[in-house]
Amino acid sequence: MGTALITGASSGIGAVYADRLAKRGYDLILVARDRKKLDILGTHLAEETGVKTESLQADLTSKADLARIEERLRTDEHITLLLNNAGMSVEGSLVGGDLDQLEMMIQLNVVATTRLAGAVSVAFAARGQGTIINIASVLALAPELFNGSYSGTKAYLLNLSQSLHGEIGSKGVRIQAVLPGATRTAIWEKSGTDVSKLPPGILMEVDEMVDAALAGLDLGEIVTIPSLPNVADWEAFNAARLALGPNLSKDHAADRYKTTVLK
Ligand SMILES: NC(=O)c1ccc[n+]([C@@H]2O[C@H](COP(=O)([O-])OP(=O)(O)OC[C@H]3O[C@@H](n4cnc5c(N)ncnc54)[C@H](OP(=O)(O)O)[C@@H]3O)[C@@H](O)[C@H]2O)c1
Repeated sequence: MGTALITGASSGIGAVYADRLAKRGYDLILVARDRKKLDILGTHLAEETGVKTESLQADLTSKADLARIEERLRTDEHITLLLNNAGMSVEGSLVGGDLDQLEMMIQLNVVATTRLAGAVSVAFAARGQGTIINIASVLALAPELFNGSYSGTKAYLLNLSQSLHGEIGSKGVRIQAVLPGATRTAIWEKSGTDVSKLPPGILMEVDEMVDAALAGLDLGEIVTIPSLPNVADWEAFNAARLALGPNLSKDHAADRYKTTVLK
């Protein structure tokens, strides 16, 4: 299977992916800031499954640390899968929010994921194989529901994934954007939300979420929304978006915008 490089492997969604990918036979490169947690997880998975594991401590908001991981993705020919999962949320809303925290979130959720995907996609396209999984969020489709800056970072990842699929999908590189809904992980507490206060029926357990996302990968999906009952709903939404295409750029404004002067 080769090696999977997982960012944000020290907890939550990334740690469960590490378990599942090890069980599928991938060797693992585990990336996050908490070296101790990575080592404990790596040792456990190596003993349980027999795969090789390596911990790479990195703060992906640090340019130097990010450059190290990029270089590894560019040069390690054993890497066959990138899981772009490390991410953070922020406390509170956009208006009046902590702008330094928002900037750090954009560094992690947007800049780091872009640089890592960009670095590995060159190598994967040259080899004609490889898989890039980007962990976005259903908030990519629902900016009304949460801090607009967080949902914006996730909409960015959805766009990036769809565009990347168009660029290198035909060269044998698999791209998948995963759009989880609310999932029980530490991210909620870290961003000041008590999960027990969420409306009933919207919180998925992390194991179920990751297993569904991997089932979506096996089905060949480019976009996977683990909780969406009917995939036709996503297809209809995407078809409506694509139908706008021929009218999104024209040499004249639409009639409703033409002033009497211009007429
Ligand atoms: N849980 C949800 O409801 C939900 C829903 C939709 C999407 N997501 C997305 O899923 C992804 C994983 O989140 P999670 O829910 O599993 O949260 P989590 O348990 O808080 O995990 C976040 C992971 O990212 C790592 N990380 C955070 N800041 C980092 C940095 N500066 N450099 C390197 N690694 C960093 C953390 O490790 P260290 O602290 O050790 O660095 C941790 O391993 C995120 O992209 C999140 O936006 C989550």
